Amino acid sequence: MDPFGRHIDYLRISITDRCNERCLYCMPEGYKGWENRPEHLTAAEIIRIVRVAAGLGFRKFRLTGGEPLVRNDVPEIVRAMTEIPGVECLGLSTNGTRLAALAPPLRAAGLRTVNVSLDALDAGLYRRITGGDVNTVIAGIRAAVAAGFERVKLNCVLMRGVNEAELWPLVLFASEHGVPLRLIELMPLTRTDVLTEKNFLPVGEAMELLRQRDELIPQPDRRLGWGPAKYFQLKHTGALVGFIGALTNLHFCESCNKMRLTADGKIRPCLGDHGEIDLRAALRATDSDDALRELFATALRQKPLEHQFRGAYQPCRPMTAIGG
Ligand code: 5AD
Ligand code: SF4
Repeated sequence: MDPFGRHIDYLRISITDRCNERCLYCMPEGYKGWENRPEHLTAAEIIRIVRVAAGLGFRKFRLTGGEPLVRNDVPEIVRAMTEIPGVECLGLSTNGTRLAALAPPLRAAGLRTVNVSLDALDAGLYRRITGGDVNTVIAGIRAAVAAGFERVKLNCVLMRGVNEAELWPLVLFASEHGVPLRLIELMPLTRTDVLTEKNFLPVGEAMELLRQRDELIPQPDRRLGWGPAKYFQLKHTGALVGFIGALTNLHFCESCNKMRLTADGKIRPCLGDHGEIDLRAALRATDSDDALRELFATALRQKPLEHQFRGAYQPCRPMTAIGG
């Protein structure tokens, strides 16, 4: 329990800040954070932290990045995590570019769920947003569905003037592949000029855009996984669409259940608050896990009531360094 009575049992672990794509809302141009390689946690260090966290009551874990699959040891990390008592749910968030090859070994290693970022289906627009090739991602999504994960979800970050026209094609793609689509409000995570009044598209408006084409049936009891999305079923297409109103939903943080671990070993109690607790120094200074437990307890005590995104929040670490 944190000081506000929230039960925190979900840890998102960024295993690298490197990425093979370049989404502007996630990674500022010219970002070079990852050149400090020795700062990054090794697989053994990650496993040790997960063991401590599971001992403290964390039950849900997600590997993120940057792009986690640029690391070659992800299947080993996954396998080791599944063997830790208390690790009940294990997911991965990816841009999907390497999933076509990696979905089968990840599933075999015990990974249960996969979230794939997909902001556009149009190849030119996808390249403009991410720098990458949408066809590799589509192949990755198909491979993930075929590999039999318990759940594959698509994530789309809403950007006015950029991808409104993609929303309906994404809905059709999601229903065709039998996977839920989540629409996420853009958060100020790179440079302040990436999120402006002009390019912010609230989930309420995205909902209206979809309502022009289909009927949205609320699914108030539907929780897919352990995230904050509010789900609706589209009556005619059958698609399941989740809305993540990180900025416009004023109650967004009330049901927060998570903390993050950055690739360089800091516990980040909230994505939208600069507070961080350094775990890496203790991890490397001692073999005793007591100090790590103490730092987790400190992080829990310091978890803020809500994010600072609505104020004059200035990101000092980009999303790619915090863990998507
Ligand atoms: N705002 C909202 N969502 C973001 N993501 C990355 N950066 C941002 C941002 N600035 C999303 C990615 C990915 C998920 C892990 O986080 O699209 O799907
Ligand atoms: Fe890479 Fe994902 Fe960030 Fe895009 S959102 S830059 S794909 S980590």
